[in-house]
Amino acid sequence: MTEDIGALAEEIRALVRERDAVVFAHNYQRPEVQDIADVVGDSLELARRAAASDASVIVLAGVRFMAETAVILAPEKTVLLPRLDAGCPMADMITAPQLAAWKAGHPGVPVVMYVNSSAEVKALTDVCCTSANAVEVVRSLGVPRVLFGPDRNLGRWIGSQLPDVEMVLWDGYCPVHDVVDFERVAEARDAHPDALVIAHPECLPAVTAAADAVLSTSQMLRFAAASDAQEFIVVTEEGLLHALQKAAPGKRFYPLTPSMVCPNMKRTRLTDVRDALLDDARAVTVPDDIAAAARGSLERMTAIG
Ligand code: 13P
Ligand code: SF4
Repeated sequence: MTEDIGALAEEIRALVRERDAVVFAHNYQRPEVQDIADVVGDSLELARRAAASDASVIVLAGVRFMAETAVILAPEKTVLLPRLDAGCPMADMITAPQLAAWKAGHPGVPVVMYVNSSAEVKALTDVCCTSANAVEVVRSLGVPRVLFGPDRNLGRWIGSQLPDVEMVLWDGYCPVHDVVDFERVAEARDAHPDALVIAHPECLPAVTAAADAVLSTSQMLRFAAASDAQEFIVVTEEGLLHALQKAAPGKRFYPLTPSMVCPNMKRTRLTDVRDALLDDARAVTVPDDIAAAARGSLERMTAIG
C-alpha cells in the first residue's frame, strides 16, 4: 500500500502542533519518516534531546529501547512509540535475571551496558553507553576490568581501543551488523578504490579493523561531511544512506551490501506516526521503581562524550 506522503506529512504536522509534540527519528528510519521529524539522530543524541525537550509529547520513531530511554530521562512526558512491536533483538539477548547472575559471579566489577538493552537491565547497570561514547565511558571508570553487554562486538571494539582494560563480554550481537564479513569489505574496496570505509562498531572485529573509521551513525554523518574524500563505503544499516546524502550532498555513498536492513527500524511508516499522535494507545511506560533505578546509569551516559 502506498502512502500519500504529502498529505500524511501535513496531517502529522497539524497533530504535532495540537498536542505540543515533537517527533524524533533514528538515522535508520525510512526516508519519509526522517524527513518529517523535528530531530533525526543517533541513540545518544535522541536520549539527550529527550532529556532537554520542553514538549509535552515525544514521538520516538525508532525501537523500544530508545522510547524507554526517553521515558526514563523525561518521566513527566508522554513518549509514543509508533510501532509497539519495534524491538531490538540484541536488547533481548540479556535479561535482568541473567545480568543479576552474571554480576553475582563477578563481585565488585563495574557493569557497563550498551543502551540497546531493556529498562530492567539498565536498572542493574552502573553506566550505560552508546556507540558514540562507549570508549570514553569505559575509560572514564578508570578500572582494570568491566562487565560489558549485550554487544560482544562493541565490547571487543572498546577493548581494542583500551588495551589496559579487561572487557568481560556478554555474548550478544546485532543480527544486521554481525553477519558482514571482511571479504565483502575487501571486495568493496577493490570496486571503489578511492572510497573510505566507515563502519559501525556493532560489526565483527575483522570488519572494524579493516575500516578507515569506526563511528556511531551520527558520527558517520559528520565525518562524511567534513572529510576531503568524495566516496564512502557504508557498513551499517541502509537507512543511514538517506541521512548521509542529506548531510553531504554531492558525495557518493555505497552500501556494503543491500542486505543490511533492520526489519524493526523499518516497521514505522508515516501512518503509524500519525496514528500514534491520535491518542496515547502507543505510549511506552516503565514502572517507577525500574525507572528510578535505571536513571542514574543513563544520566551518567548522557554526561560523557
Ligand atoms: P547509533 O547509536 O550509532 O545510532 O546506533 C544504534 C543502533 O541500534 C545501531 O544498530
Ligand atoms: Fe538492534 Fe541491530 Fe536493529 Fe540496531 S540495527 S536496532 S542493534 S537489531
